[in-house]
Amino acid sequence: MDINPFQPGSGQMPPLLAGRDAAQNDIKKLLVKLDLPSGVPSDVLLYGPRGIGKTVLLQWLEEYCIEEHKCRVLPIVPSDTMALKDQLMEALDTPQAQVTTERSSSLGISLLKALVKRTVVQSSQARSLVSFLIDLANKKPLVLLVDEAHTMPAKWGRELLNVSQDVRKKAPFLLVLAGTPGLRDCLLPMKATFWIRTNKIPMGRLTESAATDAISTPLHNEGISIDPDVLTQVVTASQCYPYFIQLWGSILWDAAKEAKCDQIDQALLDKTRGAFDYKKGMLYQEYYEELKQQHMVPVALSIAQAFEGREAISDIELHDTVAGKHVGVNPPDIVLETVRELRKLDYIWQGSEGSVWHPGIPSLMTYVQTEAQNLEPDNSSALAGAWMHPQGALALKGAWGDLDDQVVDNLMDEIYEARRIDKGRPVEMGN
Ligand SMILES: Nc1ncnc2c1ncn2[C@@H]1O[C@H](COP(=O)(O)OP(=O)(O)OP(=O)(O)O)[C@@H](O)[C@H]1O
Ligand SMILES: [Mg+2]
Repeated sequence: MDINPFQPGSGQMPPLLAGRDAAQNDIKKLLVKLDLPSGVPSDVLLYGPRGIGKTVLLQWLEEYCIEEHKCRVLPIVPSDTMALKDQLMEALDTPQAQVTTERSSSLGISLLKALVKRTVVQSSQARSLVSFLIDLANKKPLVLLVDEAHTMPAKWGRELLNVSQDVRKKAPFLLVLAGTPGLRDCLLPMKATFWIRTNKIPMGRLTESAATDAISTPLHNEGISIDPDVLTQVVTASQCYPYFIQLWGSILWDAAKEAKCDQIDQALLDKTRGAFDYKKGMLYQEYYEELKQQHMVPVALSIAQAFEGREAISDIELHDTVAGKHVGVNPPDIVLETVRELRKLDYIWQGSEGSVWHPGIPSLMTYVQTEAQNLEPDNSSALAGAWMHPQGALALKGAWGDLDDQVVDNLMDEIYEARRIDKGRPVEMGN
């Protein structure tokens, strides 16, 4: 039976890893330094919205490190329950680690296992973990890949960053962290200087030409061609978002096989649109629920309106929109916190340019606009204001329209609870 080559999902290597040359080259340049006595100058941080391709880039990196640089690679995900050193030791005991150690014949697997166990017992201090990793990396360059790094507990993360810095100074060692843009907020309080000096690689959507390749090449390799005009329409509909690219590829491949044809034309594309829209809708529904749970729909709606017809808006415009000028108050800490929260939810995304913002998950804003249509305009602006400045909500009574006082009180209780604000706590007023 033919197997569909496309991989719509999470963490599955696509048939063609397209459009990541810049990120790959940045990492390759650093890896060259791994073999020099001076070592690599900093850790690497890959960050981008969900479904953008971080995990698969880590998979590519793992293979590249093993094949091109003969490194030992430890892929891990932060743990809530295990200490960093225990987790590293456990990772070293995995078959992948055993395979790489088999090559150094003087140190057999059982000996390594014994060494690992002894180190677990002995290394009650982070220092001994550092010595252990230095020894290990001096035998064979060591690359530690941490996926889902935005979920690092503070203590675990702080220790990791310190260990990495100490090991990197004395042995060929590289730490690569991959996570959503929330990773920045997670790292900042851990070690502010680390964030400034680390090698940050933002991952955004693919270019149109990369998205075109990602769809057409695997189809072509399977003996299926696609009309140029149809391909353009598919690329546009995928919005160059890697997950949607795989989804389109997979749906088109299935349709071509079912129709027993080797040419994807307009009629076949039209037949498949419903299947894509259904899957896309399911994904958006999940994101919308997250926004709803955090009472972010009104503010998300205002932002969607600010973005209408534009690919990017300035930092100032975003903050002004969130501050909700109509409310007339602007507590800066609350505005910043709301922006951070929306970035964490991948609703907005700031790439390498820094001063401008883009939509995070593509066209989620259009979905929010459609779904939020039934919010009364007056109520939604009052809700947005109340969310930003709950203590000022009473002054907004006029904006609540015909809503019953009891309904307003209940909404306010929900907002206080969701924002975890003590009703009695005074809010510092901004400009
Ligand atoms: N460069 C690429 N070209 C084509 N498809 C890609 C590319 N990168 C990722 N994909 C596809 O996109 C989807 C998401 O990839 P992946 O799981 O790596 O994203 P992620 O950023 O790790 O998401 P999450 O934050 O949810 O873990 C997968 O279906 C994957 O096959
Ligand atoms: Mg991932």
